Amino acid sequence: MYVLSFESSCDETACAVLKMGDGVREVKSNIIASSVDIQALYGGVVPEIASRAHIEAISKITYEALDVAGLKISDIDLIAVTNGPGLIGALLVAVNFAKSLAFANNIPLVPVDHIKGHVAGNYLTHKTLEPPFLSLVVSGGHTSFFDVKSYTEFVEIASTRDDAVGECFDKVGRVMGLAYPGGAVVDKLAKEGDKHAISFPSPSINKETLDFSFSGLKTAVINYLNTKNQKGEEICREDVCASLTYSITESIKQKVQDALIKTGYNKIVLAGGVSANSHIREAIDSLCKKCGATFYAPELALCGDNAAMIGAQGYYEYLNGARASENLNAYPS
Ligand code: KG4
Ligand code: ZN
Repeated sequence: MYVLSFESSCDETACAVLKMGDGVREVKSNIIASSVDIQALYGGVVPEIASRAHIEAISKITYEALDVAGLKISDIDLIAVTNGPGLIGALLVAVNFAKSLAFANNIPLVPVDHIKGHVAGNYLTHKTLEPPFLSLVVSGGHTSFFDVKSYTEFVEIASTRDDAVGECFDKVGRVMGLAYPGGAVVDKLAKEGDKHAISFPSPSINKETLDFSFSGLKTAVINYLNTKNQKGEEICREDVCASLTYSITESIKQKVQDALIKTGYNKIVLAGGVSANSHIREAIDSLCKKCGATFYAPELALCGDNAAMIGAQGYYEYLNGARASENLNAYPS
């Protein structure tokens, strides 16, 4: 079946067409329009600007997604849309657009949880991957371990107690004057620095829990940068990025190892925008090679927010019986 999907939970307006079926998981088109350049002027996402940008982009990218896929709306068998969590005004744009399109054309509609969508991006990269498995979702808004029992049943087993890992990368990036969002730039600069140059605190809370806490690390790095600035001392951004990344990577590696032991799973699936981080990918990959587990991560194009991942999850929600009515609403958290 052909699935048309939408995503507008933050600053990306996205539309995709997938061909899904028994043994078939094919991305026919995956279009993303982003307001990140405008948001960068403000050093973060301004919700009202994001909503307006979604309204301007959504119709155009829908035509584009259908064109690239070589299909018409009458060929579409299912529409899927992210209805939470995210910025409420932003979410409502795709939710209402998808609702109108579905009911005007008599196509079934399913709502998709953004986090589950991130995990489902992996099904498009790894064509034979099936639940159950352990998943770690790392993004700008989330850092959580899930026991993914089936395509649709997720149990959160641990999370961050404060900031998400992406937020920590972005806030430090902002204080260093890096382009917004800072995560990808920190990743790049970290490759050129000394990871042992500065000793930053670990985001691991203790051995007893799989939870994380990133606010202490974030504050420590920002304090380090402010102190250096006040003293007029030079900052080696590469060393700061390498040391920050090392602290995050080491704690994630340790928690993944603990979570695999605790759950008994031998499959770990990474997801979310931060899953693009080369250091984290490498660390989990080498851990899995050592402990005999299999590591999955989405291809880079499917790490950040996109609609293909929403279509993939939407397909499995549909198979599980989900259907949205004209009363479908969005939820922020
Ligand atoms: O999943 P996502 O696109 O949006 C949310 O749902 O939050 O994640 C965005 C986050 C941002 O914090 C961004 O800086 C981070 O993903 N990110 C990265 C990298 N690429 C994107 N963080 C670290 N390393 C990267 N290569
Ligand atoms: Zn996301």
